[in-house]
Amino acid sequence: MAAEKSKILVIGGTGYIGKFVVEASVKAGHPTFALVRESTGDLNDQESLVKAIKRVDVVISPVGNMQIPDQTKIIAAIKEAGNVKRFLPSEFGTDVDRHNAVEPACSTYARKKQIRRAIEAVGIPYTYVSCNCFAGYFLPTLVQPGVTAPPRDKKIGKSIEKTYFPEEQLLKLIQDSEFPISLILAINHSIFVNGDLTNFEIEQPFGVEASELYPDVKYTSVDEYLERFV
Ligand SMILES: NC(=O)c1ccc[n+]([C@@H]2O[C@H](COP(=O)([O-])OP(=O)(O)OC[C@H]3O[C@@H](n4cnc5c(N)ncnc54)[C@H](OP(=O)(O)O)[C@@H]3O)[C@@H](O)[C@H]2O)c1
Repeated sequence: MAAEKSKILVIGGTGYIGKFVVEASVKAGHPTFALVRESTGDLNDQESLVKAIKRVDVVISPVGNMQIPDQTKIIAAIKEAGNVKRFLPSEFGTDVDRHNAVEPACSTYARKKQIRRAIEAVGIPYTYVSCNCFAGYFLPTLVQPGVTAPPRDKKIGKSIEKTYFPEEQLLKLIQDSEFPISLILAINHSIFVNGDLTNFEIEQPFGVEASELYPDVKYTSVDEYLERFV
């Protein structure tokens, strides 16, 4: 007999990442609920939040960056409801406990870090999904600000022209830029200058590499992905 599927609540299911989470949960056969503002509830409405949480086993929160601190309300509601087997807070990026990012990225990551500590303090079982630059923000442009497609040159046999941009110049540009450009540049500095996504070992058993956890998933390589632009 097939194991019973966990019931999932997605808070933020209409967002950029959330839509994929809802679709994947339904496709995996989980009874899936979404807390949607103006119909089932708002995360600032504790009563609707607790009511929604009581119906499920797992809560996934792909809420946006502006709502990261508000997740303390989800934590309080999970604690009050008392039935949740696992909580996945809004992460879906850099491992916020392992980076050397400059401002304003550092403060952005600190807010996610505070939520981690709050979850651990109340003892809710959790999974932190650190999926690095997985979303469509990075690859389609090869991280070139202001463009909509990657350079085709390498794929069609030409060599890409390289421009040397010293780190000091990038740090100055981050300081002189308005938000959110400064945030994007600081994230890129953390990833591509510091190497913050790759300069640590994944600690077993606390951390697990997703491709080992889900060996059946067919991953698309960067090389295959970029073929579509040629
Ligand atoms: N690694 C990467 O490349 C990458 C890229 C993008 C995002 N991320 C991360 O992924 C996470 C999600 O970001 P996103 O860009 O997908 O977010 P988003 O598009 O801004 O979506 C935010 C979601 O939160 C919901 N929401 C906002 N306030 C709410 C409230 N008071 N009550 C209930 N729901 C509320 C929104 O609902 P409405 O539809 O009602 O507004 C929406 O569904 C963030 O942690 C972000 O840092 C990572």
